[in-house]
Amino acid sequence: MPDVSAEHPETRPTEASEALFARAHAVTPGGVNSPVRAFNAVGGTPRFIERAQGPYLFDVDGTEYVDLVGSWGPMLLGHAHPQVVDAVRRAVGRGTSYGTPTRPEVELAETIVARTPVDRVRMVSSGTEATMTAIRLARGFTGRELVVKFAGCYHGHVDSLLAQAGSGLATHAVPGTPGVPEASTAATIVLPYNDPAAVERLFNERGDEIACLITEAAPGNMGVVPPAPGFNKLLAETCRRHGALFVSDEVMTGFRVTRTGHWGLDGAVEGWTPDLMTFGKVMGGGFPAAAFGGRADVMSMLSPEGPVYQAGTLSGNPVATTAGLTTLRLATDEVYAHLDKASRVVSEAASAALSEEGVPHVVQHAGSMFSVFLTDEGVTEVADFAGAGAQHLGRFKAFFHAMLDRGVHLPPSAFESWFLSAAHDDRALDRILAALPAAARAAAHAPEDAE
Ligand SMILES: Cc1ncc(COP(=O)(O)O)c(C=O)c1O
Repeated sequence: MPDVSAEHPETRPTEASEALFARAHAVTPGGVNSPVRAFNAVGGTPRFIERAQGPYLFDVDGTEYVDLVGSWGPMLLGHAHPQVVDAVRRAVGRGTSYGTPTRPEVELAETIVARTPVDRVRMVSSGTEATMTAIRLARGFTGRELVVKFAGCYHGHVDSLLAQAGSGLATHAVPGTPGVPEASTAATIVLPYNDPAAVERLFNERGDEIACLITEAAPGNMGVVPPAPGFNKLLAETCRRHGALFVSDEVMTGFRVTRTGHWGLDGAVEGWTPDLMTFGKVMGGGFPAAAFGGRADVMSMLSPEGPVYQAGTLSGNPVATTAGLTTLRLATDEVYAHLDKASRVVSEAASAALSEEGVPHVVQHAGSMFSVFLTDEGVTEVADFAGAGAQHLGRFKAFFHAMLDRGVHLPPSAFESWFLSAAHDDRALDRILAALPAAARAAAHAPEDAE
């Protein structure tokens, strides 16, 4: 096992990853199949992973890392969980796709309906498909066009949702990327997060044009920025009052934060229910599976029962749904209790190490999802995208690389949650804790802002 003590980091070989990255660059834009994997925000070479087990990643250079990426959320149970692997092996042996209905997709749908506030559900292959179709359905159901989203919330790479807010409270969205026509975002309005007055104002002005409001149930894509108490309830009630649908995107939070698949920490307590929900990540058990669901009357508008079209060659794929179903069956209360505890241990240790080195920071949680913002002195909370954007990215970069050098793989971006799993045992947690003091020291001595 490599020496991961904070004082004596190994110089870890990266030649094999570098060689693969060079080959990848020749055939794939940026050398990666999803931009955040490229390490652009932190610099250096992404580690090409050969295999993973429990809380560990093993790269092509033979280095072991404690994994805090968790495939960006899905790996609730850790990597290669024996029961998931076994179920998947057996599913693969029966054939990988038939293009006909199967038992596991019915059982996964039943599980989702039983655990969440949705009446009916439709399987798709990615979170992007789920949010894209939820919006189409909301527009078809209401006969309206406007969609409201929040700055800093990510709902996949759906054209109409790839929109940035300009200045001002309620801004007509402009595309956040070339290739998205203005017409695609013209019917999207972006509001600042956690700002009830902006929501009220918009709905009072244009409520009868709004098909839906979509929000991350507890945003994790600008770092973890939980909703202020009562904010989601206000959104649900405002939508209802104006005949718009409330779409709660739980692609990241669903089945990660609670067993119910529902952020629920305020939903259950405050008593609101979304009209539509989207799921992904954990419910696919590491395979491409996602879903959207909701009120029976809205879902019955969906083809072939209703007129709103949606389809997918691999939707409800028997291998992916078997992996998801097995994962959800294994996601017991003990799993969530462990995740909560482990995330407290790591986040408190990170905070203590940063405080020790005098690095200003804020740690925010949504259940077991958490992130560490390296902020200005005196900042006590990050409540929206503007706040998240005010982090010191140079410090994060130094922190990230010091952790990586010590065998701990954080998400390579300051705008992400850290993901733990049920497999993060004492050995894995000890290794994270051992790396934190030196990483905090590196952050303290780094230029505040990235070059
Ligand atoms: C909240 C949320 N919605 C939607 C998506 C898109 O999911 P996918 O990457 O599977 O398309 C993501 C992905 O990170 C997400 O975090």
